[in-house]
Amino acid sequence: MQRPDAQERGVPQGSEIHPPTSSPPLAWRALQAELRHARLPLAAVDLDAFDRNAARVVSAVRGTRCRVRIASKSLRHRGLLRRALTCGGDTFAGVLCYSADEAAWLSEGGFDDLLVAYPTVQARALDAVAKAVARGATVRCVVDSPDHVAALSEAGARHGVVLEAVLDLDVAFRPLGPLLHVGVRRSPLRTAAQVRALVRASRAWSGVRIVGLMAYEAHVAGVEDRSRGASAVQVAMVRAMKRVAIPAVHAMRAAALAALEAEGIEVALVNGGGTGSLSSTLHDPSVTEISVGSAFLCPHLFDGHDGPAFEPAAFFALEVSRKPDARHVTCAGGGYVASGAPGPDRLPLPWWPEGLSWVPLEGAGEVQSPLRIARGRRPPDVGDAILFRHAKAGELAERFDAYAELSAGAPPVLSPTYRGEQQCFL
Ligand SMILES: Cc1ncc(COP(=O)(O)O)c(C=O)c1O
Repeated sequence: MQRPDAQERGVPQGSEIHPPTSSPPLAWRALQAELRHARLPLAAVDLDAFDRNAARVVSAVRGTRCRVRIASKSLRHRGLLRRALTCGGDTFAGVLCYSADEAAWLSEGGFDDLLVAYPTVQARALDAVAKAVARGATVRCVVDSPDHVAALSEAGARHGVVLEAVLDLDVAFRPLGPLLHVGVRRSPLRTAAQVRALVRASRAWSGVRIVGLMAYEAHVAGVEDRSRGASAVQVAMVRAMKRVAIPAVHAMRAAALAALEAEGIEVALVNGGGTGSLSSTLHDPSVTEISVGSAFLCPHLFDGHDGPAFEPAAFFALEVSRKPDARHVTCAGGGYVASGAPGPDRLPLPWWPEGLSWVPLEGAGEVQSPLRIARGRRPPDVGDAILFRHAKAGELAERFDAYAELSAGAPPVLSPTYRGEQQCFL
């Protein structure tokens, strides 16, 4: 894919980057009047903020040996994926896909250097990957067990290609072994010995070749240092956990990498991290690429991370459709609750105008969402638009066919999400 130079596209570099702001960008304020006539609910992306976030990632990575792989699950929008790849010049390379079918579809659309980060053994999906590889695309798949290796090899054999596999290493923090597991539960591969055993087992399969390692430190990248409403003690505990867990992650990656090399593997990539661990993952000498997705749109679950700060770039607008009393307004729609462990942090964040909060007994509703108005705030009128930020970056795209793309001085343009392109992968 063509990647015009960031400078050419006018993307701000380094010192020109404005600090993140908590109030809506100018483009949004200008849009408020138009929203009275727009079809609501409406989801939008501030392209100027998106580009500044991309520039922040570039400046965080500058001077390290890492490249950035774009995590597609946090965009789910081909236009934005292209824009991100373009913004980053040589720093951004490839896409971290969340399904094999998605990778095959992206490959058909001209994307290349795709890494399917979550395994499957479904023959149909792996056949689609194998076909893309047979056409000359680079599509690699993450595996963590002989079952995955076998399924991949069989797909490769069916299409006359050798498929490349990347081992997923679990780097959860386990100070008491299996008694205390801080991290996600995905891969059973934890030790160098297990890595070596899987490499050896994979040699029995001729349709697959192991070429790399992925180790995502979810307990660092996915845990805010200062979550909304956290006490000083909770903040201190999270920071203390990360201080001990981060060197342990780096040690586990180094040991697994040494195991691959000891088995004679020519390692093409070592992938790690995410938006929430940018500053620590970039300092792991084993890592050759970091996956970044959420940074571009900066959903509200990323507000409390230490490290580079990003600015909100994706929003949705709901109509105030009724006023149950002087202290409340009720919006039409709004139940876009994020995945993950259920809790108030998974709700969207009422964002503009300020001074609105959820009603705890109702939360974000299936077709209506009441909001409480803080004392002293002017109540919004029926017909006004209220702006919200989603908790996570990619899931909003599953609720809307298109994003209104906003940029200062340009009229909004609607561009399709994956859903708007009739694609739904998970
Ligand atoms: C394997 C993997 N890498 C990276 C990420 C980070 O993505 P983001 O930058 O959107 O937080 C995730 C998020 O869940 C992930 O599962």
